[in-house]
Amino acid sequence: MSKVTVPAVRGRKVRTGSDPLVMVTAYDAPGARMADEAGVDLILVGDSLAMVVLGYDDTLQVTVADMAHHVGAVARVRPRPLVVGDMPWLSYHVSTADTVRNAAALIQAGAQSVKLEGGAKRVPMIEAIVDAEIPVMGHLGLTPQSVNAMGGYKVQGRERSAAMALIDDAHALEEAGCFSIVLEGVPDEVARMVTDAVSVPTIGIGAGPHCDGQVLVFHDLLGIEDRITPKFVRRYASLKEQGVAAMAAYADDVRTGRFPSHEESYHLNGTQAEALGLYGSDASRTA
Ligand code: KIV
Repeated sequence: MSKVTVPAVRGRKVRTGSDPLVMVTAYDAPGARMADEAGVDLILVGDSLAMVVLGYDDTLQVTVADMAHHVGAVARVRPRPLVVGDMPWLSYHVSTADTVRNAAALIQAGAQSVKLEGGAKRVPMIEAIVDAEIPVMGHLGLTPQSVNAMGGYKVQGRERSAAMALIDDAHALEEAGCFSIVLEGVPDEVARMVTDAVSVPTIGIGAGPHCDGQVLVFHDLLGIEDRITPKFVRRYASLKEQGVAAMAAYADDVRTGRFPSHEESYHLNGTQAEALGLYGSDASRTA
């Protein structure tokens, strides 16, 4: 099957008969291989990297270098899904020139597009990136890089004025050239209004079923991250639980001498054993 492209994603509106888009985050080569083999459409190397991989409390700590490092690991797998590199906080807020250079760093690391958070006020930066031939995915609603400004991770767009502002922002992103828009943490009715208002696909997370696609974080979907379960997460596996049980079994086998077994060890042949003076040793008999 051929590589998923930006124009192909741009055309995927459910209202015109397309199947919903499937996006998942991944941060390394094994994760990218899993996403590829699962047949998803897009891999987002999200700045959630900060929280689910690097152990930070929020997403504000990761740098362009961190993101490029992980984009590279995903891209080296050459996955069929479109690779989207997330632009970290402050990488697109200071100057247009820095913004384009930072977006380019993610493309040079192997992404085919970038994502950034925010609405109309980000339009000049989005236009500059698009002008450099780099496709941009927008991100509206609960934008985690604004956690301090929002006063926490709170559902956005509940009030009429906020819902209308979201629709205006979505129009602004579409006009600036975004090929798709992530909608995070908004009521499903509002996500539906935004989705109806734009011609590019919306990809929801905590935004209900009416978007043109869905995205989940790798560690949430697979149950690797089990400390918090937001309402919108559906766990399809319990890999943390399985992993802990497997490691505990390994520890028990080592401590009781059951691991490694004879079959799991390398052995000398008879001549080699004899040369070491190991006549009649277990090794010389069973190489
Ligand atoms: O960084 C991330 O994982 C994201 C998704 C939650 C959309 O931005």
